[in-house]
Amino acid sequence: MIFETIISSINNKNTVNFSPFGIRKIKKNIYISPYIPSQTLNNLLETGCAVVNYLNDASLFVDCVVGNKANIKKQKSKKIKGFFLINCLSYEEVRVVNFKEDEVRPTFECEVVNTVFNKPFLGINRATNAIIEACILATRTNILKKTKIKTELNYLKIAVEKTSGKKELEAWGAIYKYILKRIQ
Ligand SMILES: Cc1cc2nc3c(=O)[nH]c(=O)nc-3n(C[C@H](O)[C@H](O)[C@H](O)COP(=O)(O)O)c2cc1C
Repeated sequence: MIFETIISSINNKNTVNFSPFGIRKIKKNIYISPYIPSQTLNNLLETGCAVVNYLNDASLFVDCVVGNKANIKKQKSKKIKGFFLINCLSYEEVRVVNFKEDEVRPTFECEVVNTVFNKPFLGINRATNAIIEACILATRTNILKKTKIKTELNYLKIAVEKTSGKKELEAWGAIYKYILKRIQ
């Protein structure tokens, strides 16, 4: 099973990076597989640690994808050198224990060194899921056909229009605009 998360990592100069990543959990370990090239990949190789943030605020996924750094509020993590998202529901601080090389998509196996529960999970919202799907489309505009992207956006829009709050409508507007600009 894959869980959509936001991974924060730092380089040796302490520059922080936040990026959405689908992670796998097998027994107690977490597997992160970045496609080359990736800043998260470089940072994990440099520092050997990261923070995996779990959240249901789709606007933060959008902020990461469109590069809206001002909205990404962070705080120092406790057991590893890094940062967690203040608005996450929970987060896990992880350390790399194994690295499987690959020319396309290497994999880091990580052990969890600290788990923190921040806020309660209050339920599933369809618009949130739809916006995260749109974020995935946004990071694949260079490999997907324009017609496929437009068809999927039209379908995702149904859940957004039916179930959004103000925040979700704004996040949808931002990711929609970003995608259209990239495919025009
Ligand atoms: C929900 C979601 C999940 C993603 N999962 C992955 C993933 O598992 N591996 C990957 O390489 N990129 C994934 N991406 C795309 C990366 O976030 C994107 O390519 C990003 O530019 C790579 O970030 P980095 O260069 O900051 O590491 C995902 C994007 C979204 C929106």
